[in-house]
Amino acid sequence: MSLAMATANTDLDLWLEQQTGKSLLRFLTCGSVDDGKSTLIGRLLYDSQLVLDDQLASLKNESRNRTVGDEGIDFSLLVDGLQAEREQGITIDVAYQFFSTDKRKFIVADTPGHEQYTRNMATGASNADLALVLVDARKGVLTQTRRHSFILSLVGVKHVVLVINKIDLVGYDRQVFERIEAEYRAFAAELGFETLAAVPVSALRGDNILVNSERTPWFSGAPLMPYLEAIEVSEDRAARAFRFPVQWVNRPNLDFRGLSGTVASGAIAVGDEVLVAASRKPAVISRIVTMDGDRERVTAGQAVTLVLDREIDVSRGDVLAHPGSTPEFSNQFQARLVWMSDEPAYQGRSYLLKIGAQVVPATITDIKFRTNVNTLEHAAATKLGLNEVGTVTIATDRAIAFDPYGANPLTGGFILIDRLSNATLGAGTIEFGLRRAQNLTYQSFDVSRQVRATLKGQEPRIVWFTGLSGSGKSSIANLLEKRLTAEGRHAYILDGDNVRHGLNKDLGFTEAARVENIRRVAEVAKLMADAGLIVLVSFISPFEKERRLVREIAGDIAFSEIYVDTPIEVCEARDPKGLYKRARTGEIKNFTGIDSPFEAPTTPELVLHGATAEPVALAEQLYDWLRI
Ligand code: ADX
Repeated sequence: MSLAMATANTDLDLWLEQQTGKSLLRFLTCGSVDDGKSTLIGRLLYDSQLVLDDQLASLKNESRNRTVGDEGIDFSLLVDGLQAEREQGITIDVAYQFFSTDKRKFIVADTPGHEQYTRNMATGASNADLALVLVDARKGVLTQTRRHSFILSLVGVKHVVLVINKIDLVGYDRQVFERIEAEYRAFAAELGFETLAAVPVSALRGDNILVNSERTPWFSGAPLMPYLEAIEVSEDRAARAFRFPVQWVNRPNLDFRGLSGTVASGAIAVGDEVLVAASRKPAVISRIVTMDGDRERVTAGQAVTLVLDREIDVSRGDVLAHPGSTPEFSNQFQARLVWMSDEPAYQGRSYLLKIGAQVVPATITDIKFRTNVNTLEHAAATKLGLNEVGTVTIATDRAIAFDPYGANPLTGGFILIDRLSNATLGAGTIEFGLRRAQNLTYQSFDVSRQVRATLKGQEPRIVWFTGLSGSGKSSIANLLEKRLTAEGRHAYILDGDNVRHGLNKDLGFTEAARVENIRRVAEVAKLMADAGLIVLVSFISPFEKERRLVREIAGDIAFSEIYVDTPIEVCEARDPKGLYKRARTGEIKNFTGIDSPFEAPTTPELVLHGATAEPVALAEQLYDWLRI
């Protein structure tokens, strides 16, 4: 056995090299906070004799006044350094520990058990061959156990060990073990794991870790470590189709141009023909450059620079593949999504989608259903909250190369990122591409926006009013339209109340409905401006994210955001439709400014102070500013 304890701080490559010849098992531990993960990992390190003598002495010292096993050691202290750091600043999402025995080398990903750390668990799981699902024998299977197991299946972990820990605390009771195992097996039946073993363990006392414990004579299965040493999990990434996501185009001088990245799957050799997935442009590999010189052939996992025999258009994010086994290329697909943010996922909101080296704006076009992680039942949903899991369709702004996750996890998994904060909001796995997008093209017509605009003698534009109900948006829009019309301009008002009687009569006032409301109206405004009109849009549009989206949808059409800033007290005193009064009595729910938020614009083109002047004066101010 190796005596050097390798931790996250040591050189992984060096360690792996020392261990060559032995097979590698990557596994992760998951479970709730107090299920004893740290103790179990500490125990595995200790029992594989990875702990040095001086470490042992100081551990014994530190373990005083703590819950200790027969050895007088609190094993969780072995991994606690990382834990403490993590709890303070959450600097470590996933901590890796390395250890080995005579038979095998191991990399274990330890992920925090708190609810909000589902994301880290998903990150750890996406690289794992096997998962230890820890359960406290006193508590049995919890929602968190089910959620984690569901995510394991989502990210394609095929081998699971149910570690029923703290078996000493239930008096080594066979019935407790069997009941928990049966309950878990019934739940996991639908999750598609290839192997599932259950082991009764006391990580603290060392039962069923290295050898079968005398205290559980009724347990005839393999103890944990021998089981981990023996299990076959081989999944050959090199045997999959060749995928090479281009990380960057490497051009140090005029004589050299190479495509750098890591071979995600499959193998590539000098002389092979490749295609760029997006453009379908072919080329032949003329050189494979690595840190250790040129190679004839490389396989999955290796970082290389590929040199092509000809100059073709390739940029960061492109994917190279062999002709005949290219990835899908589409701008719509169905996916399973785990949501990891406090702010829910809404249909219609725009995010950044990152898959491999590709990053594109993307929208959830449909939440098909939410999956209850306890029962695995499907339920209709308009949003996904923190830790919720759903099946969705996603549309990206431009087509991307991908594979269904089942065919290739490396090119089938993605994350959704917040466009403002850059935070990771969700992680997903692609089920399949949607053909409907591939069957659509843009028709081009001879009469252009320019021609239509010239005919009307005006520059089309979108004037977008945002502000509370009763702030004066519609009154100002009305006066502006009158003025423009009197001058022979062609204008049109899109108004919240009116559009909600027709196009958007299916939408209410939940946050999810408002997101979709604004998205649709932005698209309509764009069409109208394209028809040559000056479009005045008067919607509360309470969310910053959608106002940004609107601006983006407008594209090259002149766009101005006008914030009609009227204090809520003034709007409420006016109460033109009597809605504030009804909202105060609770008769109307989700009323903006009362029990539904209004995010004041931070970068409007113009602010009109609704409480300080009459609509006529404000319309005049706006007209002057617009200079139409
Ligand atoms: S938005 O938030 O989705 O942009 P929109 O502008 O379409 O709202 O509709 C707002 C109008 O609907 C208000 O002017 C008001 O007349 C009416 N309304 C009815 N219920 C509500 C509500 N709960 N919150 C806000 N406005 C409401």
